[in-house]
Amino acid sequence: MKAGYFTEFGGPEVLQYGTVADPKLTTTGLIVKTQYIGLNYADIYRRRGTYHLEKQTPYIDGYEGIGEVVACGTAVQHVKEGDRVLFVDVPFANAELVAVPEARAIHVPAAISDQVAATIGLQGLTADFLAHDLAQNRAGDRVLIHGISGGVGNLLTQLLTADGVSVDGVASTTAKQQLAYAAGAHEVFLRHSDWAATHTNYFDTVFDGVGSTLPVSLAITRRRGRIVFYGMAGGNPPKVDPIDLMSGSKSLMTGDLWDFLTDETIRQARADRLFKAVLRQTIVPTTPTIYPLSAISAAHTALEQGQVAGKILLAP
Ligand SMILES: NC(=O)c1ccc[n+]([C@@H]2O[C@H](COP(=O)([O-])OP(=O)(O)OC[C@H]3O[C@@H](n4cnc5c(N)ncnc54)[C@H](OP(=O)(O)O)[C@@H]3O)[C@@H](O)[C@H]2O)c1
Repeated sequence: MKAGYFTEFGGPEVLQYGTVADPKLTTTGLIVKTQYIGLNYADIYRRRGTYHLEKQTPYIDGYEGIGEVVACGTAVQHVKEGDRVLFVDVPFANAELVAVPEARAIHVPAAISDQVAATIGLQGLTADFLAHDLAQNRAGDRVLIHGISGGVGNLLTQLLTADGVSVDGVASTTAKQQLAYAAGAHEVFLRHSDWAATHTNYFDTVFDGVGSTLPVSLAITRRRGRIVFYGMAGGNPPKVDPIDLMSGSKSLMTGDLWDFLTDETIRQARADRLFKAVLRQTIVPTTPTIYPLSAISAAHTALEQGQVAGKILLAP
């Protein structure tokens, strides 16, 4: 099969596209022929060698995709050949064929297209656990999202505003600022303005998936407020002293999606909640930018340099 892969860590230039061995079918697994593969920021961390990664040479990045089941193991019970499944936590996804454990296959309602499911999958499930498991904001709360027009930021804005939360955010360009307003944001600050100085001890919750912004997040969170730290798209955060947190009565929360997708029932239930939000138009997904899988290196460059707002999909 064809895949995007790398044999050494580094920048987008280490990514290659070519023929690798097909994945092996296990008794409890499926082989999925991918229609779309979701590109995520964690793929960049893995390519750089700074994040957990399944050790297999060549390294095939990616954990998210949607496609058709083309083979089923003998012990598979609830999936059959020809079914359409989404997956968000399965390694070696940057490929035409992916071995997916049956338990990690998510069924998608017929009313939701492949493109929409792949656009909201991992980022939507992330936005959902950040909002509803970690922060648990109430209507009327004031929150701020760094990187508000990114994939997670956009969906998080929509979920929170649907809950009656007032969402402010930070974006790098006026075009991205407008995207965040379209998603329901109340006020969107430009990254290089001095907005933070006038918002000390202000927000009930600050969502920080940028990382290098953590000191700002600590300063703008109100006393007894929460910082939800979930990624480092802008670089690793400096160390935080818990004594400083305590003296401001501020709490730092963290989470990784995979710790909220603990079994197949929970994974499907969380995905169904997301699909319902799309069907009710509580969430309106942005139009994805699609690159052929063969252009995986260019897709990484675009994601890393912030050239694209919203989801990037790879098409085999
Ligand atoms: N914990 C989890 O389970 C989990 C799951 C999925 C994703 N994540 C994390 O969530 C974060 C967002 O992911 P995503 O998929 O939404 O990526 P994305 O669509 O590429 O969004 C990244 C965002 O980060 C912002 N950004 C990048 N560099 C920045 C910098 N130096 N300063 C300030 N902002 C910067 C960008 O802002 P502009 O667009 O304004 O340039 C962009 O909005 C990543 O850190 C990712 O690792 C965590």
